[in-house]
This record gives sequence, C-alpha cells and structure tokens, in this order.
Amino acid sequence: MTSSNPLSIRQISLAQPFSDQKPGTSGLRKSSRQFQTPHYLESFIEASLQVLPGVAGGTLVVGGDGRYGNLAAISVIARMAAAHGVARLITTTGGILSTPAASHLIRQHGAVGGVILSASHNPGGPDGDFGVKINGANGGPTPESITDAIYAATLELGGYRICAGGSDPDLSTPGLSSIGDLQVEVIDGVDDYVALMQRLFDFDQIGDLLRGDFPMAFDAMHAVTGPYASRIFEELLGAPAGTVRNGIPLEDFGGGHPDPNLTYAHDLAELLMGSDAYKFGAACDGDGDRNMVLGARCFVNPSDSLAVLTANATLAPGYADGLAGVARSMPTSAATDVVAKELGLACFETPTGWKFFGNLLDAGRITLCGEESFGTGSNHIREKDGLWAVLFWLQILARKQAPVSRIMAEHWSRFGRHYYSRHDYEAIASEAAHGLYNRIKEMQPALVGQSFAGRSIATADDFAYTDPVDGSLTSGQGLRLLLEDGSRVVLRLSGTGTQGATLRVYLESYVPPSGNLSQDPQMALGELITAIDGLAEIKTRTGMDRPTVIT
Ligand code: G6P
Ligand code: ZN
Repeated sequence: MTSSNPLSIRQISLAQPFSDQKPGTSGLRKSSRQFQTPHYLESFIEASLQVLPGVAGGTLVVGGDGRYGNLAAISVIARMAAAHGVARLITTTGGILSTPAASHLIRQHGAVGGVILSASHNPGGPDGDFGVKINGANGGPTPESITDAIYAATLELGGYRICAGGSDPDLSTPGLSSIGDLQVEVIDGVDDYVALMQRLFDFDQIGDLLRGDFPMAFDAMHAVTGPYASRIFEELLGAPAGTVRNGIPLEDFGGGHPDPNLTYAHDLAELLMGSDAYKFGAACDGDGDRNMVLGARCFVNPSDSLAVLTANATLAPGYADGLAGVARSMPTSAATDVVAKELGLACFETPTGWKFFGNLLDAGRITLCGEESFGTGSNHIREKDGLWAVLFWLQILARKQAPVSRIMAEHWSRFGRHYYSRHDYEAIASEAAHGLYNRIKEMQPALVGQSFAGRSIATADDFAYTDPVDGSLTSGQGLRLLLEDGSRVVLRLSGTGTQGATLRVYLESYVPPSGNLSQDPQMALGELITAIDGLAEIKTRTGMDRPTVIT
C-alpha cells in the first residue's frame, strides 16, 4: 500500500459518552442519521474492540449488506482495528458480505470475531436505518454477557483510538494491503459461501430440477443476496437469466423494506400466490439471513418450514446421517416439536434471538434451528441462513419431485397442522405499548383458569429460559397464555425496531391429522384473535384498527 501521508495512531476524546448504545435483539440498530452523529460509530466500535477477547494480534472479519454507510464504516473499522493491534482484517469486494457468509468466514479463518454492518430487514439509505452486529469466534452473535459488557463500556468511554493518515483499503478488487501493522485482505465475499453450500447440497440434482420445467423466482430485494443468488441459481445451477430479481445491492434497497414476508415482498407474493406461472418463489432480507419460501398459491409459514426441513433433513447430503436435535424460539409454533417427537430427537425452546442457539450448536446438541421471524439455519454456521434454507427446499423438491403445496399437505396429514399467525402493530407510541404489555403481565396470575376464546387458560407466564449448556437464566421473554387444548397466544415487544415500539401477537392452534387441515389460518385463529384483542384492548390502546403486518 502506498501511503500518501504518514500514519499515526490518534486518541480522540469524547466530550461525553453516549448513553444509548445498548445492543438490541441483533446488534446496535439506529437510524442512519443517528449513526452520523460525530464519534457515534467509533464509540461502539471502540467498546467492542475493548471487550471482544483476542482482538490484539487476532483476525477480524468485516463487511455488510451494502446499505448506505457500509463502505465508510468499513474504513473507520479498519483504521480502528489497526490502532488496536488487530493483525489481520478480512473484508470483501464492495464491502458486500451477507451475515451467513460472514459467520462462515469467521469460522473458516479462525477469526476472533466479526463486525457485520447491517440493520437486517430494516429499510436503508440516509432516511433509513444502519446497524452494527458484533459476532464472536464461533461465528455467531455474541452472547448477552458480551453485549452487556460492550454497552457498559460505551457508558464509560472517554475516547477512542484510530489510525489517521495513509489511505483507505481499496475494496474495488481482491488484494492485500496494510494499515500500519494491520494486514488488510480484500476477498470475494461470495466464493467461500458457495463452496460451503456445494458441500451441503447436491448441486447436480438441484441443477437438473432448475434446468427443467421449473420456473422459479428469487427476490433479492436489492439487498445483499443478489450476487450470491445470481452465482448459485443462474451461474451454477443453470436457472434462466432473470430468475434472480432485484439482484443488484443498492444503498437504499431501491426504497424498499427488505423483509421477506407477504407484506414487504409483495411483488413476489403476488407472483406466486396469484397464479400458477411459477412453481417456486423465495426471498431473503437485507443481510441475507432471513428467508421466505413460496410455492404456487402456497405460502410456507416459517414455523412449518423448520418442521418440513426437520422431517426431510436426510434428503440433503450434508444431513444424511441424521440430526443431533432441533431447536426453535418460543414464539415459533410447535410444528417442529411434533416432528422431533416422532423422530426421537431432542427439541429445545429458546428465547427470541439467534444468539440463544449458539451454545446448543457449539455443544453439538442440535443440528437444525429456526424462528417464526423467517429465520432457519443449522450447525454449518452460527447465524440463520436465507439462501441455505432456499437450497434446502430445492433439495427436497428435487428429491421428491412434488410441488410445494403437496409437500405441505403430506406433512400436515402425517403430523397435524399448527395454524399459526403473527400480528404486528408497528411504531406504536412506546408508552401505549408498554402500558398494554405491563397490564397483561400484572393480570397474568389471575388469568389462570379463566375462559378465553371458549377455552380455559392453563398457564399464564412470562417466558424465562435456562440455557442447558451454561446454566445462564434469561427472563422477561414474552407473555404466554397457554390454553388447555394446546392453543396459545403470546405477546412480545420487538427488540429490533427503531421507531416507537412494535407489539407482536403470536397466535397458534393445533389440529391433529384427523382434523380440518385446509383452513385459512386467519379463520382458524379467528376466536383467538378476537379474544386477545378484547383482553389486551389492543385496538383501543394502540389506536390501530388492524395490524401493520400479518404473517
Ligand atoms: C432478528 C434476530 C432474530 C429474531 C428477530 C426478531 O432477526 O436475528 O433472531 O428472531 O430479529 O426480533 P424481534 O425482537 O423484532 O421480534
Ligand atoms: Zn437479517
């Protein structure tokens, strides 16, 4: 690297520390504008570099989903890494690196961790959101002990160290350079991830499917998965050009909201749900860890998706030897539990947030895991993985030679169906949301034995989790009303929003194989929907007639 001016390590003082850098469900997520506050990003990175074990002399992986602020942040992090004695920084061309690919690179290179620049499925651009996720040496989101320590460090921070002078790493092509003693390695962010997928799935078999009469549409939502999906589906598996839609990552995701659900991936949903022209559709979110899977006129609920992958896992070469166990987050439906029981697999119920799967995966107690929030993954990395889930589905379809709707119908007729829906009330005034939530929390002890939606409430509690690996206790994870017939309603406040509060209402009701398996979920759950609105006074307290998003 040629330095235009001499390099020096600067100690920059903060007039006062920031008080609002507490990481949420998934890293520090704020508006892009807030991240532009002078020293804001630097404060969080300084705290992270102080807390993450092994930083001095270690390797760090850095990249992001391409949103506004991504490239500038990579330069800042490289300069701060150099000032903190990091030996090697691995980043990618264009700074483009999906969350799952980052997790893989951390593991593959024995890095001490990674910094992933993303606000996941939140909109991007100057008026959107930005985020920083700190992953640990196992490739997964750092546990709460680390995020709490990072937050504590930000509250005390007097300043930060950064290298000034020299030139910024050139991210336009792969290559080696340095900032002082820090070696900066720019690699293609797609290659290693694709090689991993080729080890887990039978690309020849999936290729035969995609080159045949199998029109499919993949929507990258102008976010990070575009380059990965084009390489995998079009270049390697032979799907026709145009299969990948919105495949160029844009700083503002084309003005869209890169969240793969029926509301925000509307164009894809219409394409699949409104006609028989396509046999398969899928989308991923901003940073590539979420997925939505659709068949012709068939939406696969994420909770069901995990159950189907569990039931059919051995069809994929990477899982041919069977599974060690499975896990799902508490608000995810129990569809997987039923499969696990039948297959004799251990099944764990964790709080919302991928980080809670980390210990179970590291300890080899589970192979697959998933969440209702469109996240599915396995022990191949320590993040959920959108394209992995899509490939897994394609592998099952290639092996079974059956449409998605038939796979679902056969699954339900064997295991029964968990009618499931999540109703989100977004951007509610924080006071109203907490008022509603705390009121139900206080009412809970008295609710047991009361009637609700024509059934009786068997348990009413606030979900708490004791990690079976390290014994740590996490409480306050969501208000559950468990009904005597196995149905349930759960209330939770989102930990990932940046505007006001988002109330999530999770609704679930089980029908055995002998029951009616082909209802519209909103109809099947109608009584629960009415009952929870009455009990929690959702409409009156939020001032909203209907949910913002229904999945
Ligand atoms: C992120 C996390 C997930 C979590 C999801 C929902 O995507 O990685 O693990 O399920 O957020 O979080 P929220 O708190 O908004 O319901
Ligand atoms: Zn994401």
